[in-house]
Amino acid sequence: MNINSQIFSARSQKKTFNNPQRFIEGWYWVLPSRNLSQGEVKAVTVLGRELVIYRGQDKRVITFDAYCPHMGAHLAEGKVEGNELRCFFHNWKFDAEGICVDIPCLEEPLPMKLKSWHTAEKYGMIWVWTGETPHHPLPFVPELEDEECHSALGSRFIKNCHPNVVMINAIDAQHFNTVHNLPLEIVFEKDELNENAITFSNTTRGGEDSFFIKLIRPFYKNAVTYSMCYWYGSTGTVTVGPDFLHFHIMFTLRMTEQGKAEGQTLFITKKRKGIFGWLFNSIVLSLTKMVGDYFAKGDTKIFQTIKFEMRTPIKADQSIMQFINHVERQKALSWETWLDARSRDIESSDRSKWRDDMTSD
Ligand code: FES
Ligand SMILES: [Fe+2]
Repeated sequence: MNINSQIFSARSQKKTFNNPQRFIEGWYWVLPSRNLSQGEVKAVTVLGRELVIYRGQDKRVITFDAYCPHMGAHLAEGKVEGNELRCFFHNWKFDAEGICVDIPCLEEPLPMKLKSWHTAEKYGMIWVWTGETPHHPLPFVPELEDEECHSALGSRFIKNCHPNVVMINAIDAQHFNTVHNLPLEIVFEKDELNENAITFSNTTRGGEDSFFIKLIRPFYKNAVTYSMCYWYGSTGTVTVGPDFLHFHIMFTLRMTEQGKAEGQTLFITKKRKGIFGWLFNSIVLSLTKMVGDYFAKGDTKIFQTIKFEMRTPIKADQSIMQFINHVERQKALSWETWLDARSRDIESSDRSKWRDDMTSD
């Protein structure tokens, strides 16, 4: 597909990308694992849906819809008993599958079940699958797919624009020179890992006359390593570093009201054995943080004020157009309801808004 047909295709299907009412079905971060101890229950809101999350005595994390089917008390007011959750208000109890197992004033509980959501932990985070059955693995770093990993939590951040827009920053080839002062000519090659994940990898050896590039070139056999792997258009892992040591920084985002983004940075490296492995990894993760901080700074003010609209794409924006098309091909759900966005008629006002957007230039 040439750049023009990519632009046309991205514009004509502009339905999910940067849409504050939609997101892609997938795994989304809920909170760091360390923030939910055994026996603890919390209220969380993810992509507009109110949830209750708790960790049972068996250490498993369970997620349900937030409100009690009896009278609507928030279940996070309740308490964890073993691996089960008891509502504070009238003490009805639900097991880890959400099945009602006790109503104190009745001999038999009523046959009812809370809506539960698949929940898992990886890289020190708790993740929830926003659909019925997870049909993709949790987001992973492609190079470390089969490795056990060490990870560290970076900062939590809020950006004043849609997660999709924050995400494209990592493949915005022009801005590496203009914002981050990197004297690097980057040309990406895309590769679809699966229907939910896409990678963009640099194919160049950098600029010819830059002192910086000459300095780092001995550490690269081929192209200078810089790649980005995206999941669900809202979680991305940057991989950078010399051939002998790659740094992996994951930025995982989810949409808040009005299409803003809240995110969490993670630093990931493969597990190394023994005390020396642990020490080495502590150093690697600290270095990863320094690399991550370098990339994170510089763009902040842009994300506070941007009103994203790709009005005039040029060849250098090709990867961004490919990313937009990738987002449009995935299954979209609706904000708050988590229902299939295609099965619901878009409100007519929304429809005309999107039509205006598509034809405004
Ligand atoms: S509202 Fe939960 S038991 Fe009554
Ligand atoms: Fe940037």
